[in-house]
Amino acid sequence: MRRKIYGRSISNALTLVVATPCFFFLASCGQNAETDEGRAAATEPNSPTSAPETEAIETPSFASLPAPYNEADYRNGKSKFNQCIACHAIADGKNGLGPHLYGVADRKAGSLPNFSYSDALKASGIAWDNKSLDHWIENPMKFISGTKMNYAGLRNVDDRRDLIAYILVSTATQ
Ligand code: HEC
Repeated sequence: MRRKIYGRSISNALTLVVATPCFFFLASCGQNAETDEGRAAATEPNSPTSAPETEAIETPSFASLPAPYNEADYRNGKSKFNQCIACHAIADGKNGLGPHLYGVADRKAGSLPNFSYSDALKASGIAWDNKSLDHWIENPMKFISGTKMNYAGLRNVDDRRDLIAYILVSTATQ
């Protein structure tokens, strides 16, 4: 008697043990497929209109910048700016080891009245735009020998594109 009961309950238990993972597997498989489809269906038809809007809220848009900066990666640009942030503030009027960068686009190099620049930078005669910033960030000491900006340079061209786009957007005066 006992054996029989045991035998039955063991085999019942086995059925459960064997069946349960299958059930979960199937259930979760079915769910995933559903969610993926659901997601694709929810995003695809709307993406041309809704995706840029979401991005605009989360990150400033680079769309108004000239190529190739309109295709820059905001996150990477922001993260590369961490290499500058020890010396440069973006906010107006706050100089650190380096001059603040608020409104740096079109600024004549070395022209802030309240920062003590090197003679080399003041005499360079350049204005900051995409091109000059690119040369400067790539290798400041090579671009303006005698500068006192103690920064080795960012050699990767895509990193410079992303960083410059970030600077242009974040330091714009309006
Ligand atoms: C160790 C400090 C330091 C770091 C790091 C640094 N800078 Fe500078 N930066 C300076 C100093 C100092 C000057 C002034 C140079 C001179 O007078 O020769 C300067 C000048 C500049 C200028 C010229 C501003 C003007 O008013 O003419 C720009 C643009 C600039 N830096 C951008 C950057 C960027 C972008 C980075 C990061 C990739 C960076 N700097 C990293 C210290 C730094």
